[in-house]
Amino acid sequence: MSDAQRPHFPRLLVTGGAGFIGSCFVRDVLARKDGTEIIVLDKMTYAGNRENLDPVESDPELAARFRFVQGDIADAAVVAPLVAEVDAVVNFAAESHVDRSILDPEAFLRTDVMGVHILLEACRLEKERALKGERPAAPRFLQVSTDEVYGSVETGESRETDGLEPRSPYSAAKAGGELLVRSYFVTYGMDVVVTRGSNTYGPYHHPEKLIPLFITNAIDDQQLPLYGDGLQRRDWLYVADHAGAIGHVLEHGVSGETYNVAGDNERTNREVVTALLADLGKPWSLVRQVQDRPGHDRRYAMDSSKLRALGWTNKMPFEQGLATTVDWYRDHADWWRAIKSGDWKDYYNRQYATRLATSSEAGK
Ligand code: NAD
Ligand code: TYD
Repeated sequence: MSDAQRPHFPRLLVTGGAGFIGSCFVRDVLARKDGTEIIVLDKMTYAGNRENLDPVESDPELAARFRFVQGDIADAAVVAPLVAEVDAVVNFAAESHVDRSILDPEAFLRTDVMGVHILLEACRLEKERALKGERPAAPRFLQVSTDEVYGSVETGESRETDGLEPRSPYSAAKAGGELLVRSYFVTYGMDVVVTRGSNTYGPYHHPEKLIPLFITNAIDDQQLPLYGDGLQRRDWLYVADHAGAIGHVLEHGVSGETYNVAGDNERTNREVVTALLADLGKPWSLVRQVQDRPGHDRRYAMDSSKLRALGWTNKMPFEQGLATTVDWYRDHADWWRAIKSGDWKDYYNRQYATRLATSSEAGK
């Protein structure tokens, strides 16, 4: 392997690596076979799923460079010794669903703000050790953030220099987390980078989110609860493209900088639902117009020219990515049926029972 191909950060701590995007990052980085070693730290909340890491754990070569630790990023006793072992921390761990943040905000503050603080403190300690010559360099810290920190963007595209105007407990907690990260760059001179990704979709996506919820409900001919008029707009980014962007920023990002990761696939929710029903061969009559999400952000859109200038491009066109995703859910019914049992039913009833009981025809 040439020096150019050798990773700058060969030992990684990936927090939240049993979730949707984190597990894709772990699978894809280990599959590069460039010698990178990964420790995953994951609390295994309802969103963590060890099966997402099966492709790694069932391959002896990949498994030899992988370790799984169950634990909380907000637990300093767990975090500190792990950070001491690595060259970089990539923080995916978060409570990640807006609707759950509206039902129960507290867990979002604990993980998305306090958890980030605990991780940063562990990195600060390692920087002090590096200054004393006890390790070669301080760890790099990459915070995985979201376009939702910009708030609802009625027109144009958010740039990294725009102000943050989060409007849900989820996006407010994520904004708090990334502002802390920035403060550690300014105050302690730590090596940090931040990514802000668009709405991500693809295989292994928890069925609480729009695309996998609607695919799996439609497979079972269940109703599809469309919030409000369904004309809200999101920019869709394929999961492997998002994970690739995070790897690119980890390697090439300038310390202290933030990078938008856009998919450049802006669609209304109605357009997304129309496309996935066509892929599944299911009728629009499954769609129900239900009571809107409170404070529902109307639109997200970002300009990611800064990241493109750093050499990243997204590869997956939306229609192809959606068809791939639909096929994956059709082929992995055991995976999502296991998730849609137990606690899931309580959540589903809390979120949707009244909405569906008072729903109306969505009209095409
Ligand atoms: P996810 O909900 O699928 O996974 C989150 C993972 O974090 C789970 O494995 C969970 O068990 C773990 N976790 C939660 N709390 C933890 C804690 N206190 N300690 C350790 N582990 C904990 O989320 P995702 O969709 O993969 O998102 C990953 C990251 O990307 C999040 O930070 C999210 O804010 C961000 N993001 C997501 C999207 C998206 O569309 N999904 C878009 C942009 C940014
Ligand atoms: P979601 O997947 O929750 O992502 P986010 O809120 O982070 O953008 O929702 C995507 C869009 O789909 C958003 O406008 C809300 C809408 N939506 C529905 O209409 N019905 C649903 O049941 C869900 C989960 C989302």
